[in-house]
Amino acid sequence: MKSEIEQLRRELEQHNYNYYVLSAPSISDLEFDMLLKQLQKLEEQYPEFADPHSPTQRVGSDITSGFEQVTHQYPMLSLGNTYSEGEVQDFYDRVRRGLNEDFELVCELKYDGTSISVTYENGLLVRAVTRGDGEKGDDVTANVKTIRSIPLRLSGNYPEKFEIRGEILMPWSVFDELNREREAQEEQLFANPRNAASGTLKLQNSAVVASRKLDAYFYYMLGENVPSDLHFQNLQAAKAWGLKISDATRVCKNLNDVFEFIKYWDIERKNLPVATDGIVLKVNSLSQQKNLGFTAKSPRWAISYKFQAEKAVTRLNSVSYQVGRTGAVTPVANLDPVQLSGTTVRRASLHNADIIEALDLYIGDMVFVEKGGEIIPKITAVDKEARFLLGDKVQFIKNCPECGASLVRYEGEAAHYCTNENACPPQIKGKMEHFVSRKGMNIDGLGSETINLLYQNDLLRNIADIYDLKITDLTRLERLGTKSAYNIQTGCEKSKEIPFERVVFALGIRFVGETIAKKLAFAFKNIEALEKATFEELIAVDEIGERIAQSVVQYFAEPVNMETLNRLKAFGLQMSLSEDKMKAHGTSLAGLSIVISGTFSLHSRDEYKTMIEQNGGKNVGSVSAKTSFILAGENMGPEKLKKAEKLNVKLLSESDFLEMIK
Ligand code: IVH
Repeated sequence: MKSEIEQLRRELEQHNYNYYVLSAPSISDLEFDMLLKQLQKLEEQYPEFADPHSPTQRVGSDITSGFEQVTHQYPMLSLGNTYSEGEVQDFYDRVRRGLNEDFELVCELKYDGTSISVTYENGLLVRAVTRGDGEKGDDVTANVKTIRSIPLRLSGNYPEKFEIRGEILMPWSVFDELNREREAQEEQLFANPRNAASGTLKLQNSAVVASRKLDAYFYYMLGENVPSDLHFQNLQAAKAWGLKISDATRVCKNLNDVFEFIKYWDIERKNLPVATDGIVLKVNSLSQQKNLGFTAKSPRWAISYKFQAEKAVTRLNSVSYQVGRTGAVTPVANLDPVQLSGTTVRRASLHNADIIEALDLYIGDMVFVEKGGEIIPKITAVDKEARFLLGDKVQFIKNCPECGASLVRYEGEAAHYCTNENACPPQIKGKMEHFVSRKGMNIDGLGSETINLLYQNDLLRNIADIYDLKITDLTRLERLGTKSAYNIQTGCEKSKEIPFERVVFALGIRFVGETIAKKLAFAFKNIEALEKATFEELIAVDEIGERIAQSVVQYFAEPVNMETLNRLKAFGLQMSLSEDKMKAHGTSLAGLSIVISGTFSLHSRDEYKTMIEQNGGKNVGSVSAKTSFILAGENMGPEKLKKAEKLNVKLLSESDFLEMIK
């Protein structure tokens, strides 16, 4: 059976590589899924053949845990930036003077994502660490393992141990889709794929990371035994081992070649599936790199050239204000239409009151709009020379444009909020859209247009009204057919089966997203206990901070919300955790802080994390005096071992641990 499992793994790895690295799929998605399921089943049946590098480990897990901080063996430095051909020439001259011999440069694209350092040992991905402060970063291995274009296992003739650095990216198409979804949920949009990629990589839930379809390119190899003294050759070798290396990588013999590369990619990059913001020049020979060395912050042997963001000048006609589900008010500039990076721009984000103030804006101003990495263009400056016949100074509004209630700005927040939570139309409609959304009560047939229609006809004022809708109410409306009316009714009935944790999420309590809703549901088990929970009891729950606790207390203190809840209870929604979930959550590890370290053979690390959580324990990243014990696998890190001995923290083997939670 072992060989059958291994054969299946190899087969899946090859398909993964063909699809994600070569972009040349060899089987259909369905066939792939079927093979993967087959492997999953076999691995479940034969846990003794478990392998943390199996393709099945890419699906992620929904367990939360802090990230462990890891010191980089080689610091992760940044690059000096240049913005003109002249500055590139200066760099070239500096290198020439420094070396006093011939040299080659390698030109690469500067990918605009978030950097990562991945360590391979004996061909296996063992660790992936973020840049952090350059000295230390977060261990995000579990998340990185979900990225299909990063091999878990290499092939060919690789050194025993090496590090490879690269950029994790969110392709434009995935980014657009993610933002569309977030818009529908009235969640804050990501400004650019870079923020989306780094935000995703820091998620505590690797199953969500897996669903975000990140990509990666590698651009620098480090280690004692790298194959060549030439950077370019090392990248080609890495490519042969299965790592994704950009084809847009050129060895340049002189500055002319460099400028040609820049000119070509400044245009052509717009056709790439991922964001780039410049090019990187590196001296090709590693011994020459060593000779040149580093300044305090960056290497002397490399530099980046940043592409110019496209700019345009246009007139500011007015500022409008949009109110979201949470009551946050966003200012938007309305502009004379202008062409920018191939699209017509009519509006630009003004973000918040501070930004408006800093720009010193007047209606009628000629403003510079820029579309950097951001999707929504922004106003970067005012052309003060062109100021005549000015209108009024732009001042942030004091009252809600939708309902007239006064706005507040909470301490430490940049946004203004409308406080009329239960009577401001966009807030009510937004709450309903959130309530019926796919991740909430999943009520088919009630999209934003239908909600708007029902709202305008006074049929909906509160989320509980949804369950009071009668077929006759619905069919009376001109734009709603009988079929849609029945669809809505069936959707409402079905939603009564939606589990308690999703009901908690659907309520739309401020700061209570999907993960926090789950935490609350599992900690308090039913709505009555949650209603009564005090601030202190709330913050005692893992990951619930003061801001969330306060918001929960406030929500249940509001009589309108209690009335809504009582109606929802009466309609028969799930207001307590299901029996199975209660059972699945033991208490044998209640109050214990547990560190997981080393490699395991009976279960994966993520499975152990789940077990800890499900038994009431807390999985923590680093060993301290508060650590209850270490779940220790093979090859536990020497530093951790030393610390454990010093602090007298117990080590438990896999089997001891399994016995303990039995
Ligand atoms: S080389 C010492 N090459 O740009 C070598 N970096 O400001 C440093 N980046 O943090 C990195 N594409 O995240 C290098 N082809 C490329 C790159 C690249 C993107 C990012 C990387 C780094 C930042 C440097």
